[in-house]
Amino acid sequence: MEITAASFTNEAFANLQPRRPRVAKDPSLPVLGARDEVLAAVRGHSTVLIVGETGSGKSTQVPQFLLDAKLCAPQDGRRLCVTQPRRVAVLTVSERVAAERGVDIGGEVGYAMRFERKASKKTAAVFATDGLVVREMLGDEQLMRYGVLIVDEAHERSVHTDVLLGLAKRTQAKRPLKLILMSATLDIASLQSYFDDCAVVKVPGRLHAVDVFYTVDALDDYHEACATCCAQLHADKTCKGDVLVFMPGQEEIANCIAMLEERLSGVVVVPLYAALSKEKQLEAFAPAPSGKRKFIVSTTIAETSVTVQGVRHVIDPGWAKNRGCDARGFEALRVEATSKAQARQRAGRAGREASGRCYRLYPEAAWDSLPDATAPEILRCDLAGVVLSLKALGVARPETFDFVTKPPRHALLRALETLYACEALDDRGALTALGRRLASLPLPPLLASAVDLASTQFRDGAPDVLWVVAAVVASEHGLFVQPRGGEARDNAIRARDAFEDRSGDLWTSRNALKAAANERNRPQWCRKRFLSTTAVESALRVRKQLLDVLSKEIFAPTEAIPLDTARTAALDCVAKALCVQNAAVRDPAKRCFRALRNDAAVSVHPGSILHGRNPPPEALVFASSVQTTKLFLRGVSAVDASTLARLAPRLFSTGL
Ligand code: CDP
Ligand code: MG
Repeated sequence: MEITAASFTNEAFANLQPRRPRVAKDPSLPVLGARDEVLAAVRGHSTVLIVGETGSGKSTQVPQFLLDAKLCAPQDGRRLCVTQPRRVAVLTVSERVAAERGVDIGGEVGYAMRFERKASKKTAAVFATDGLVVREMLGDEQLMRYGVLIVDEAHERSVHTDVLLGLAKRTQAKRPLKLILMSATLDIASLQSYFDDCAVVKVPGRLHAVDVFYTVDALDDYHEACATCCAQLHADKTCKGDVLVFMPGQEEIANCIAMLEERLSGVVVVPLYAALSKEKQLEAFAPAPSGKRKFIVSTTIAETSVTVQGVRHVIDPGWAKNRGCDARGFEALRVEATSKAQARQRAGRAGREASGRCYRLYPEAAWDSLPDATAPEILRCDLAGVVLSLKALGVARPETFDFVTKPPRHALLRALETLYACEALDDRGALTALGRRLASLPLPPLLASAVDLASTQFRDGAPDVLWVVAAVVASEHGLFVQPRGGEARDNAIRARDAFEDRSGDLWTSRNALKAAANERNRPQWCRKRFLSTTAVESALRVRKQLLDVLSKEIFAPTEAIPLDTARTAALDCVAKALCVQNAAVRDPAKRCFRALRNDAAVSVHPGSILHGRNPPPEALVFASSVQTTKLFLRGVSAVDASTLARLAPRLFSTGL
C-alpha cells in the first residue's frame, strides 16, 4: 500500500513531520550546572528565585528544564508561561528555545503578546509579555491555563511585573501555582521577603574581566563624546570586537547613528530599540560581514533581556529614558541618570565571551551620586490602567492590594479620579459596565474610552477614531521623522505639510497613516515623506488587530459618511476621551498652556504641528507628555474651550 498524508490521522501525521534541525546549546552555560538544584527547589517550594548574571542561560534553559522534567504539559492548568517585560525578548527567547529543541514556534513552544499569538493546543510552554498575562487574567482570574509561571527579568520591576506578582501570590493562596522569578541582579531582598515559601538558587556567573574607564571631567555633550570615543576605539587596531553603545531613546539613537555613519568607515551601525519591527531588531543580532566592525546603538533593552554576540566594548553615557510621574502627577518620559545596578549590567555586556572594556562617559566622582537601583516602575507611573485591571479582577479596594512595593496613596487616588471622570467607576468607586468594557480592550484607559465612545456616541467618526488611536499607540516618538537641522529638517517639514490638518497632530497622523496604508512599496514611500517606517508599520498592525476584536460594522472604513462629518465626530470623540486627564488651556498672561488637571505649566513639543501656531489655540488635548528642559506635550490637537465645555460639562463647566 502506498502511504500518503491521507493515510494518517492529522495528529499522527503531524507527529511524523520532519523536525527542524536542532541548534546546539552551549554546554558550558553556567545554569546547566544548577539544573538539579533548580528542579529540586521547584518541586519543594511554591516560589523559587533564580539569580544569575545575564548570559548565564536562565531565560533559555530554565523553561527547558521544566519541559524535559515534564513539570509542565499542554493541558489547561499544566502549561508553563514565561513572561518577559519586552516583546523583543519574547520573540528572540522563544525562537531560541524552539530552535534548541528542533521544533517550530506554535508547537511545543509558542509565544503571545498584545496583538500577536503563535500557540496551539500542543503548546506546553508559552512565552508572553508580562502585560499580556495580566490582561489574560481578566478573563481567567486564577491563571487556570498555567501550572508554572516564570517571571523573567523580575529585577526590572516593570509595573506589569509587579501587578503580575501580586496576582500570582493571590492565586497561590487558592490553588497550587509554581512561581519562578529570574533576576540578573542580586538586589532581591524585597522579592524574597514578599513570598512566604521562597527558595533562592544562585547561579555562579561566567563573566570575564571588564576594565571600566571614566572621563576626567564632566561632559556637556554626551553625543559628541560618544562619537569621539567610538572613533578612537575604531582607530585603535589592537581593539578587537564589536561595540555596544547605550542611548536613552529612539531619537538619541538616530542622532548617534547619523554621527557614527558620518565619521567612521568600514563599519556597520545598527539600532536596537523596542519599537523596531521584529525583522529590524533581528538585524542587530546578525554578525557583521567579515572584516567590518559592528556598532550596536541600543536602549536599555540590550542591558539584560537580549544577548548580542561579538560585543567586547561598551560605551555607556550613563543615561536612560524612564517613565516617571512628577510631584504633580504628570506622567512623562524623562531622561535620567542610570542606577549603579544598571551601569554594572551594561558593563557586563562587554565581558560575555572574553575580557572587555566599558567606557563610562562621566567622571568617577559622579559614580557615588548614582542611586543603587532604579525605583520600581509602579512608584513612578500613572496607575489608571493598573487600578482598572485590579477593579476588573474583583479587587474592590486597590489600596489594600498586597503589592510587592505599595504605590503612594495619592497616586492611587489620582487613578481613581481619572477612572471616575471617564465613568469607568461609579460614585461609590465600583466598576461600571463601561469600566468593564474598557478593561477588556488592549489599550490604556483613555484610548479605550475613545474607542468605546466611538461605538456609542460618535459612530460617524468610528473608523477614523481607530486610525487616530492606532497612530497614538504605535508612535511614542511620532510618525514623522525629525532630522535635527539643516536642509533635511526643512524637507521633512515640507513633507509633513502634505498631510497637515489645522486641528493638529492627531488628524495629521491619521491622514499620513491612511495614505501609507494604500502604498505598495511602503518603506520607500515613507522614507521619501520622512515618515518612520517602523511607526507606520506598527500603527497599521495595531489598527488591524484592534479591528479584529471590534465590531466590523462600526469600525471598518466606509465612504457613506461625508468626510467633514466624520472628521468632526472623530475629533470630538478623541477630545472627549483625552480631556479627562490630558487637556490644557492657554494662559495668555504667562504665554504658556496650563494643564487642567493640576495647573502645571506645559508647552507644545517643538515636533508638533501646533508648535508656534499663531494665534495659539484656546485649548488643547494631547496624547502624551515628555520631560526635557520643560514639560512638553505630544500628539496635540486644538479644541475650542466651548467644545470642551460641551463634551465634558462635568469637568469644564467653570473656569473657561
Ligand atoms: O537569561 P540569561 O541572560 O541568563 O541567558 P540566556 O538569554 O538564556 O542566554 C544564554 C546564552 O544563549 C547566550 O549567552 C547566548 O550564547 C545564547 N543565546 C543565543 O545565542 N541566542 C538567543 N536568542 C538567546 C540566547
Ligand atoms: Mg534572560
